[in-house]
Amino acid sequence: MSAVREHFGSRLGFILAAAGSAVGIGNLVAFPVAATKSGGGAFLLMYALFVFFICLPVMMAELAMGRRADKDPVGAYRQLSGGSRGWSIPGWMALATPFMIAVFYLVVTVWVLGYLIETLRGNLDLLATEAHFGQFINSPVVFLYLVVLMVAINGILAMGVKDGIERAAKTLMPMLFVMLLGLVLFVLTRENAMLGVKYYLIPDFGKIDSAVVSKAMAQAFFSLSLGMGIMITYGSYMKKRDSIPGSSRAVAITDTLVAFTAGLLILPSIFHFDPQIDPSELSDSSAGMIFLFLPKIFLSLQDSVGYFGASAFAAAFFFLVLVAAITSLVSIIEVPIATLRDERGMSRRKAIYTIAAVQFVLAIGCAVSFGMVNFFTQFVQLAGADKSFFDLVEIIFYDTILPLNGLLVCLFVIYKWKKANFDQELQEGDSTFTGSVSQKYINFSLGTFIPLLLLLIFINTVALKFLDTVLSSLWRKRKRPRLPTP
Ligand code: PHE
Repeated sequence: MSAVREHFGSRLGFILAAAGSAVGIGNLVAFPVAATKSGGGAFLLMYALFVFFICLPVMMAELAMGRRADKDPVGAYRQLSGGSRGWSIPGWMALATPFMIAVFYLVVTVWVLGYLIETLRGNLDLLATEAHFGQFINSPVVFLYLVVLMVAINGILAMGVKDGIERAAKTLMPMLFVMLLGLVLFVLTRENAMLGVKYYLIPDFGKIDSAVVSKAMAQAFFSLSLGMGIMITYGSYMKKRDSIPGSSRAVAITDTLVAFTAGLLILPSIFHFDPQIDPSELSDSSAGMIFLFLPKIFLSLQDSVGYFGASAFAAAFFFLVLVAAITSLVSIIEVPIATLRDERGMSRRKAIYTIAAVQFVLAIGCAVSFGMVNFFTQFVQLAGADKSFFDLVEIIFYDTILPLNGLLVCLFVIYKWKKANFDQELQEGDSTFTGSVSQKYINFSLGTFIPLLLLLIFINTVALKFLDTVLSSLWRKRKRPRLPTP
């Protein structure tokens, strides 16, 4: 184990690094699309309530666990539970989850990098054709881009917490804010832009049903990088004198503002492209939006700013998404690195090589899941449909385990580690915390309705994604007589 644990140099450094983790593809694309399709302002309101009343306490719980234990998620669960065997399971889950989410997120980021490069080469018109995406993701160049991306990310990680992660966040995040604002200002001056703004903001409460509530909650949870061990790990790099409640609030506000602002970029662009559009028909998937729909929208800008202008706009957008994704990937890959260092005493460099090697292989498995290799393309049958390796990783780790991890954090902090210890950690660096309304709310909610809500989301996903498969396989077993094995 390293003798002295690395720490973030300043409170602002921590906030930018954590915001860098939180701001990702989820904010820039998934959020605006979800908001548009699910009631506009009504969704925004509900989302904000979820962020501040449900997710924020979970973020504080994760940060407090990490900072008190001064360890990675596996070590934090072990130490704070007094070595309980049962509680080591959530620790390992909080390691496996980011590890696997990183794998599929890497592949999507590789495509973003590819689209950026193609745009810079003057090929925006090609990107805007229907067939291009399928061809691109099945071309060998994705392997090259995967290597480039992994070298960049691991290069940042190799420089350590303060000189790598924090410095990258301090450079990239302000750049991201400025670029996002610049793109929004440009788009708002386009024809019909205001139709998009109206569609985005005007609330339609009629669209809010249980599926939308569950989607908003899952989106908020993912967006704040919860349930992935990231905040536990980053908490362990936080200084005792910094306020956990205050810093968490700053991260949540930044993340939500970026997501909201991204809507002011995406929606006006869509309505400029087609003022008659019915946004409820937009694709649900972020990948569909980024790689199939947005290039067409960007290309249509050539009517007013020429092909070069449209390409510049598209390149700026892909670059923005790339930066957001890189800062998220840095945070998520730091989790297994911290674990190998804390639990196995490995040097940072050795941990990076080990993890990069395994992730590279798994990422290739995901990258060839779209037709290149049949085995990975039709990896399993779920709910009566073929699912690829890529799909499976996303369904298991992102859709299903994420809320479960969150639920376990709540139960652990309140009932195992205990409220008094948790409160004491939050009081460090925030002398006004004890006795405050926010203390009472956090303690009560983390022990009651927050875990309950996460449990409902978990059950809902399991029912939706897996129950069919389990039931149908049981059914098949009963109907089919067992054949003797030769
Ligand atoms: N908050 C990120 C997003 O919105 C989620 C994420 C974090 C994904 C870290 C990967 C790694 O996209």
